[in-house]
Amino acid sequence: MTVAQLLAYIAVALLLQVMAGVAFAMWRRLSTTVGPASAGMEDVVAAPSAPSGAWSGWREFRVVRREFEDAAQTQCSFHLQPVDGAPLTPYQPGQYLTFSLKVPGSVAAASVAERSITRCYSLSDRPDPTGYRITIKRVPPPEAQPGLPPGVSSEYFHDRVHEADVLQVKAPSGHFFIDPDASVPAVFIAGGIGITPMMSMLRWCVAEQPERRVHLYYGVRCSSDHAFKPLLQDLAAAHPAFKLNVVYGNPGVDDVLARDYQHVGYIDLALLRRTLPHGRHQFYVCGPPPMMRSLVPALREWGVQADDIHFEAFGPASVRPTASASTEPSVVISASMAVRFSRSGRTLAWDGQDANLLDFAERHDLAVDSGCRSGSCGACQTRLLSGVITYADKPDHDIPKGHCLLCVGKPQSALVLEA
Ligand SMILES: Cc1cc2nc3c(=O)[nH]c(=O)nc-3n(C[C@H](O)[C@H](O)[C@H](O)COP(=O)(O)OP(=O)(O)OC[C@H]3O[C@@H](n4cnc5c(N)ncnc54)[C@H](O)[C@@H]3O)c2cc1C
Ligand code: FES
Repeated sequence: MTVAQLLAYIAVALLLQVMAGVAFAMWRRLSTTVGPASAGMEDVVAAPSAPSGAWSGWREFRVVRREFEDAAQTQCSFHLQPVDGAPLTPYQPGQYLTFSLKVPGSVAAASVAERSITRCYSLSDRPDPTGYRITIKRVPPPEAQPGLPPGVSSEYFHDRVHEADVLQVKAPSGHFFIDPDASVPAVFIAGGIGITPMMSMLRWCVAEQPERRVHLYYGVRCSSDHAFKPLLQDLAAAHPAFKLNVVYGNPGVDDVLARDYQHVGYIDLALLRRTLPHGRHQFYVCGPPPMMRSLVPALREWGVQADDIHFEAFGPASVRPTASASTEPSVVISASMAVRFSRSGRTLAWDGQDANLLDFAERHDLAVDSGCRSGSCGACQTRLLSGVITYADKPDHDIPKGHCLLCVGKPQSALVLEA
């Protein structure tokens, strides 16, 4: 063997060693990184895996039990089991189910035939292979317009869905769910029925990560609206790492401070500053529009990183992305960015104020269907007659050719939509 050959062998051996080292390090990294936040392995418990066995389309579920969760009986839980008896898809605590309902036509609108509607309801318990639970609040007409009909789906569930009834359900989906990194305390902030995804995350945390510090701030009017009251009190008594902060806006005469609730007023930054320990927290916010509008920007102003603030709106978007919070590439707005809604006969100028075309349509009082508002359920799907739409992320819902999703789409050119 020549000296040159020997040197070549040594070089190849060294190269192989380096490659093996790099491959091992990458394997270690892939197998230990579970959530977006970095943490030691000892702090990470895998959340139930993403819905790999999820079914596509609709699946039949039977209502096996229903029960009220509040004294006023406006919030009702429905326990569901799959009719086919096959195992249930695991889900991420915080996700929701999508329902297709055939509801009676509106007598007021002179249409008595059944019609289909799509609505989403958060799973309100931790993952359980035997069944799902959702909890639905009855939605009355707006206070200022008592003559309007009440909420269609919530009224249908409360008045017409009984035990043994069968419902059409899409697999769990949604991007609002718990980060499994147990080293970062979680702060759940719920207003009214916004408690449902928090119940799922909270129940998962105390079962799987009993040492993790978890704070729940739950705002309701008074004890009659206070859902899951005995369960929350039992959890707080049994789990020292869980701090319960119930905030009554208007306590009843029989409501007792420290027994029924911990604070009076509203959940605001002052309360969080007063009661939360120093340090990094992950915030999860779900509540009525005024709460979302005030609290989410307040958290950002307080200095909480955008990645540590998770929120979900149950209705029309109430939180507008701020320039600093958004990571999306900005869409170039041109004078020709006209959006025509052909069925409604209106042409509007896209001015970039809205996060998506659904918010844009609603801001201009156009009636468009919606469900999840996050690209999963397909309820806002509309025919795209001309133009180009852009999506920041690929939507979960498979969009048929020639169609688009308003809730996650933005125009990239002038558009003509069928809506
Ligand atoms: C991801 C997600 C998760 C959700 N999770 C939950 C949950 O866990 N629990 C829950 O209860 N809800 C949840 N929701 C909300 C739920 O999907 C429904 O939006 C809610 O039940 C209301 O639907 P509805 O059909 O009853 O009301 P709608 O029929 O949509 O009516 C809504 C309101 O509009 C009023 N209205 C009726 N006609 C008019 C009119 N002409 N002009 C103006 N107003 C009118 C109604 O009186 C009512 O107040 C969730 C929503 C999303 C997007
Ligand atoms: S509202 Fe569900 S996909 Fe748009």
